[in-house]
Amino acid sequence: MVRLNSVTKDIIGTILVKVEYFNPGNSMKDRIALTMIEDAEAAGILKPGGTIIEGTSGNTGMGLALVAIAKGYKCIFTLSDKQSQEKIDILRAVGAEVIVCPTNVPPEDPRSYYSVAKKLNRETPNSFYPNQYDNLSNTKAHYQTTGPEIWEQTEGKITHLAAGVGTGGSMCGTVKYLKEQNPRIISVGIDTYGSVFKKYKETGEFDEKEVYPYLTEGIGEDILPRNVDFDLIDMFIKVTDKDGAIMTRKLAREEGLFVGWSCGSAVYGAIEYARKHMEEDGLMVIIMPDHGTRYLGKIYNDNWMKDHGYVESSIDYANARDIIRNRSGNGRLVTVEARQTVGEAIQKLHSGSISQLPVTEGDNFVGSLTDSKILLQLIQNPELRDTAVSEVMDPPFQFVAMDNTLDVLSTLINKDNKALLVRDEKDQVHIITQHDLLMAMTR
Ligand SMILES: Cc1ncc(COP(=O)(O)O)c(C=O)c1O
Repeated sequence: MVRLNSVTKDIIGTILVKVEYFNPGNSMKDRIALTMIEDAEAAGILKPGGTIIEGTSGNTGMGLALVAIAKGYKCIFTLSDKQSQEKIDILRAVGAEVIVCPTNVPPEDPRSYYSVAKKLNRETPNSFYPNQYDNLSNTKAHYQTTGPEIWEQTEGKITHLAAGVGTGGSMCGTVKYLKEQNPRIISVGIDTYGSVFKKYKETGEFDEKEVYPYLTEGIGEDILPRNVDFDLIDMFIKVTDKDGAIMTRKLAREEGLFVGWSCGSAVYGAIEYARKHMEEDGLMVIIMPDHGTRYLGKIYNDNWMKDHGYVESSIDYANARDIIRNRSGNGRLVTVEARQTVGEAIQKLHSGSISQLPVTEGDNFVGSLTDSKILLQLIQNPELRDTAVSEVMDPPFQFVAMDNTLDVLSTLINKDNKALLVRDEKDQVHIITQHDLLMAMTR
């Protein structure tokens, strides 16, 4: 347990972090790996010589691989392709087989890392699929270890627990124990933009529109894992990829804590809460899940940070919300249905004096069209006018969060991605183009 001093300068009360990289696999997931395996052995699900197959963002794989070495099991892990190369290399280094799957497919898609793990489990004799998302041994591990440790280390003085929520095991297991000791302890779950948790907690609605790709590893989900007990998490705070990344680097430089990306997200969100609500005698503990080495090629790499527009600057950039607010016109998004013809799409581009069109199928954004690309295709094949838009469209424009700032937005618009989409609080979708960014910069 380490006290934060620098990044918490303007906070009343005490903020401690529970640094989990001291575990042998450098993350808190060692705890759940051992419990899931021992519970499976006790239940007779995992037998000597068996194979452990898991979908993991890397850390659970590491924990499982270490336990497997000690106990003589084989390991196969499926990961999504957004995970750091370091995590993949480390898993291979400890003898695991690693299968990398695409990130941008729904969980039920047969290519997703959830589906591939399940399929391998069905096809491999004597295999065990721990399924850290729904296996309640995950929560139990933190209930039995992390919770009691924090209670003892704070001598029962803890008032708040903050933690990133992915499978939910660390937050829910820890806070279940802590709330049993003192029901007044408040839990703050850290979520990402692009994840369903916060809205689900606040409205009870599983809103697929909240789901879009993001980069932070380990927290936020597009599913509701059984280990997330929403009754135990008092509130969620969403943190952008950029804010989490910049805070992680500050933790390394200003606090001497070389931790992983989700640690910065957790601290950023927790401080936001503490600034508004904590009092003098408040004692908040934030869980720091893993170590910085796993992110050397990403957030600890200056070029990677610049490429993603994650600039630690003092300039107060406008964000997507400001751009939409300041825009003239009626604000209605012009779209074309995938089944309409290219001719109809051209009509829309012309009458709206616009250069790009999101393509929809009902409520879903399934593709995009740009005038320059259509022109090029029409020159090659004038018959194209009568073709369905679905035949010629490009992938859909990327969704971004309302509070993404101009510097980040400008790095996301490029020759392959001509525009961005953003959904406002009233569920209305807006488009942001290069022209909008130029207008915002010169305003
Ligand atoms: C780096 C990192 N941070 C946070 C989490 C979230 O923890 P939990 O799954 O216990 O909710 C994970 C889980 O995969 C993780 O790997």
